[in-house]
Amino acid sequence: MVSLTVNGVVREVDAEPDTPLLWVIREQLGLTGTKYGCGIAQCGACTVIVDGAATRSCSLPVSSFTPEQKIVTIEGLSPDASHPVQKAWLEIDVPQCGYCQTGQIMAAAALLQSNPNPTDDEIAAEMTNICRCGTYNRIKTAIKLAAGSNHG
Ligand code: FES
Ligand code: FES
Repeated sequence: MVSLTVNGVVREVDAEPDTPLLWVIREQLGLTGTKYGCGIAQCGACTVIVDGAATRSCSLPVSSFTPEQKIVTIEGLSPDASHPVQKAWLEIDVPQCGYCQTGQIMAAAALLQSNPNPTDDEIAAEMTNICRCGTYNRIKTAIKLAAGSNHG
C-alpha cells in the first residue's frame, strides 16, 4: 500500500512501488482529468502540482512520493473551477481539441504561484508543455489575464 495526499485527502492505494503516479491518479483514484501523452516527461499532458511545483506524473514512480507531499490534480485546483487560470482559460477560449489543456492549466497555475506576474520570456521558458493544436498564443494571453486577476 502507498499513502498519498491528493487534493487534500489522504488516499491509500494498492499499487506496485514502480507504478507511475499518473496511473495511480487515473486508475486507482479515478481522477481522469490528468492525461497521458508521451509517457516520457516530454509533452506535459500529465502535469500535476506537487508542493507548488508543476510535476510530470507519467515519469515518477508512486514510491517517490510521501503522504506529506501535497499532490493537486485538475480536479482539486479549485472547488468550483474559479481559479484565476481556469477563469482566464474560459474567457480567452484557449482550448482547441482540449487534450493538452489540463497539463497546460496546471503548469500555468504553478507558474503564477511562484511568479505572479511573469514576462513573455518567463512564460515561454516555463510553459514547455506541448500543444498539438498550437494554442500557444492563447495560452500566453490567458496567463497574462490570470496574472492581472491575481493582482486585482
Ligand atoms: S505524458 Fe507525461 S510528459 Fe507526456
Ligand atoms: S488543444 Fe489540442 S493538443 Fe492542445
